[in-house]
Amino acid sequence: MSKPKVFVTRPILAAGLDMVRDFCEADIWPGELPPSREVLLERVKGVEGILSLLTSKIDNEVMAAAGTNLKVISNYAVGYDNIDIPAATRRGVPVGNTPGVLTDTTADFAFALLMAAARRVVEADIYTRAGKWQTWGPSLLLGQDITGATLGIIGFGRIGKGMAKRAQGFDMQILYYSCDCKPDPYAAEIGARCVDLTMLLERSDFVSVHVPLNDQTHHLINKETLRMMKPTAVLINTARGPVVDTEALYEALRDQVIGYAALDVTDPEPILADHPLLKLDNVIIAPHIASASYATRGKMATMAAENLIAGLKGEHLPNCVNPQVYETE
Ligand code: DGY
Repeated sequence: MSKPKVFVTRPILAAGLDMVRDFCEADIWPGELPPSREVLLERVKGVEGILSLLTSKIDNEVMAAAGTNLKVISNYAVGYDNIDIPAATRRGVPVGNTPGVLTDTTADFAFALLMAAARRVVEADIYTRAGKWQTWGPSLLLGQDITGATLGIIGFGRIGKGMAKRAQGFDMQILYYSCDCKPDPYAAEIGARCVDLTMLLERSDFVSVHVPLNDQTHHLINKETLRMMKPTAVLINTARGPVVDTEALYEALRDQVIGYAALDVTDPEPILADHPLLKLDNVIIAPHIASASYATRGKMATMAAENLIAGLKGEHLPNCVNPQVYETE
């Protein structure tokens, strides 16, 4: 029997890729960079499945190019803002993602960014490598204390809670903002308070963003909300770049409206090498690597393969973001 044809927009770790190869006739884009739009539209023609990375936009045009054979889209990420979910749902195509397995790895990295910004670790390393370290100095590279400080968490889902859990070890006070603000047993257990966004921004020493990107969260951190933050505040973003207005952030950091930012995600992504943000000392920018541990990327690969294969078999995806597609069964 012939194997189902799928397009994989870039190689994922072998744990998942081997499963895909075993079950499918897989066309795997070999590049380190994502396929161009033209290539993507060409390569998906007639496929039954697409295994996508967050770097490829899978919209209605791509789904139309794939055609009526398309049975499943499996995204190698927990976030799925690169996929037009309503279009997939209209077409009856289930979309899979990889929740859960990257929670701790991502929260670890968000906390690492918080610490690196608070204690100016990257600046210190650059200073030392530049041969500037001449002596111990009473006011050399002073930073912010983490222990006992207030952490404001925007978005209290899995990763937001993971951040709160880590902050417990530093006796931090935890405020969180979540659009529904319904009673949360974990928040109650650790004494975290749900507050409105203004209060969170006004009171927090550290503000960490953990919301998905959608119409409600686009530019949630903007010129106005940045002005609500303390002048020493540190902003951490490991969610999605467009949740923060980059231009407004640049101006806020430049004019010391806030103290520091530590970003794993940017808008645009990648940030252009000559972007003015990169000229500032009070910002750390990592290339979207918060989930990048060997183990986690392996688990994400397996989950993405499982979602893909389930969809090709006509089974329910183990992790489906648009389960409405099953309602008419
Ligand atoms: C995700 O999964 O959405 C991250 O941004 C990448 O792991």
